[in-house]
Amino acid sequence: MAEVIIVKDQAQAATLAANVFATLIKRKPTAVIGLATGSTPLKVYEALAAQVKAEQIDVSNVRGFALDEYVGLDKNHPESYYSVINNNVTVPVGFTPGLINTPNGDLATIEQAGEVYETLIRSSGGIDVQILGIGTDGHIGFNEPGSSLASRTRIKTLTQQTRQDNARFFDGDLNQVPMHCITQGIGTILDARQILLLAFGENKADAIAAAVEGGVSSFCPASALQLHPHATVILDEAAASKLKLKDYYTYTFDNKPGWQSV
Ligand code: PGA
Repeated sequence: MAEVIIVKDQAQAATLAANVFATLIKRKPTAVIGLATGSTPLKVYEALAAQVKAEQIDVSNVRGFALDEYVGLDKNHPESYYSVINNNVTVPVGFTPGLINTPNGDLATIEQAGEVYETLIRSSGGIDVQILGIGTDGHIGFNEPGSSLASRTRIKTLTQQTRQDNARFFDGDLNQVPMHCITQGIGTILDARQILLLAFGENKADAIAAAVEGGVSSFCPASALQLHPHATVILDEAAASKLKLKDYYTYTFDNKPGWQSV
């Protein structure tokens, strides 16, 4: 079972997670980190940028791999994950742009793009710490329910729900949202040496309960983290509200019972 830490708020989660990355980078300046898009990790990136600046940590040799990318969307489109990672992570933290990778969603080379990305991750020595959000349906990356737990980086068709959710980034126009994506597989994600999954808010509570305390199943892709030897799930109380073993998890604030991690 994953370690579960229940925090007071998003800021505390961000500090915790940023510190994991900062500690790694100080110990290993050529660290390989796994990056996620979505709103969940944004404060982590802000906290990391602040810590890097305050402690003058050299991040110039850090390599990074994003989880996913739209297929057929120009790399320089403001909503491509290449652009989003560049604007939210690479520039503010000060990473070297050429060392931060996203899968290549270019149509011309899409058939080989999954294998190319897998090879690139492998030749980097593998991901040291991967940060993840979770979808309300339990997805991680763009691995929607039903994705093989052994899957590798590949093309997927976006579900109608995900396209509707993401239409807000495309002027609310569903027709502008790409139909396909390329995403690291669940097997790829599980190869990371350490995984941090963050979730906030009541709308994530069902997915978290299924992922953490439910059976391991492709119908809740995040449940695959139960198979990982070093996965930590960081939650606010709302996202943790449907967990049954709440008294056994670690709390980072005083008025709660446990300091015991499971
Ligand atoms: P969110 O998305 O961080 O914007 O909630 C998470 C996800 O869909 O993986």
